[in-house]
Amino acid sequence: GKYRVVSTKPMPGTRWINLLIEQDCRVEICTEKKTILSVEDIVALIGDKCDGVIGQLTEDWGEVLFSALSRAGGKAFSNMAVGYNNVDVNAANKYGIAVGNTPGVLTETTAELAASLSLAAARRIVEADEFMRAGHYDGWLPNLFVGNLLKGQTVGVIGAGRIGSAYARMMVEGFKMNLIYFDLYQSTRLEKFVTAYGEFLKANGEVPVTWRRASSMDEVLREADVISLHPVLDKTTFHLVNKESLKAMKKDAILINCSRGPVIDEAALVEHLKENPMFRVGLDVFEDEPYMKPGLADMKNAIIVPHIASASKWTREGMATLAALNVLGKIKQYPVWADPNRVEPFLDENAPPPA
Ligand code: GLV
Ligand code: GLV
Repeated sequence: GKYRVVSTKPMPGTRWINLLIEQDCRVEICTEKKTILSVEDIVALIGDKCDGVIGQLTEDWGEVLFSALSRAGGKAFSNMAVGYNNVDVNAANKYGIAVGNTPGVLTETTAELAASLSLAAARRIVEADEFMRAGHYDGWLPNLFVGNLLKGQTVGVIGAGRIGSAYARMMVEGFKMNLIYFDLYQSTRLEKFVTAYGEFLKANGEVPVTWRRASSMDEVLREADVISLHPVLDKTTFHLVNKESLKAMKKDAILINCSRGPVIDEAALVEHLKENPMFRVGLDVFEDEPYMKPGLADMKNAIIVPHIASASKWTREGMATLAALNVLGKIKQYPVWADPNRVEPFLDENAPPPA
């Protein structure tokens, strides 16, 4: 291979490897056992010659790594993730390194996990499962694990991008929930979908679903029964859910986070869960990942999973393939994007446009 491409982790499937090999790349996959590589580990991996790197959201891609990659003759870095809050895009630009992410292929998979957590929280599935396994079930009772009926309740979505919109549609159509959403951009497609579905229900003699675009995130938190967070993590969304906003939420609300941990003030959330046993959360991400704030793991009204929202086989293979295409496209100077609705071009504005 003429080009050297490094992947900081083994990734699912073989398509991504074959794509690179077919295009004259030698692929080096780091098999280091420890889960999270340090900046020093990655500098060593980059070495003296490296044309592109596929990295992970647990790695700190900033000044040090981009300068090392640039010294090694590198042209591209792709995160194997849609989120890129671990990447300093300005530093990458400064060293002339293109940055890619992997949107599109994880939209439904991630929305499905948010929906799973919503249902699991509403119907207390994890608590009930623990109860069965512990041998506590000694007969049916009218009051055993009573939860929330979603039908007719309001689902709140903060961040109605690809994932947030897909989740909203699942909850509206699947469970006949009304929608309230907040996003800086109007989601006309989503609004039309809910309107059309509402008309369908009405025509069939059922109560129609409704939608409303909120003028603030707080409005969604105050009014919705189930709230799912799908914003990008930045200064405006850091601790978007905090002590005050938790207080303003319904006492028996359900809060879901499959975006990034720091969007929630997790210590405040633990306090709120203690004081409000009817309030429930489903969390895929944590403020100090991989750690949890003290007390969270003891809360029966919390469902906690280890950042697996994009973890379906199809999606993870797709993410690996997109990451390889991101890097390859830049090295070989060709645009790789066939379908702009499905995937995004490089974040680098100077990258070639889609064909
Ligand atoms: C996962 O969290 C991602 O951003 O893809
Ligand atoms: C990410 O893919 C989003 O726009 O929700």
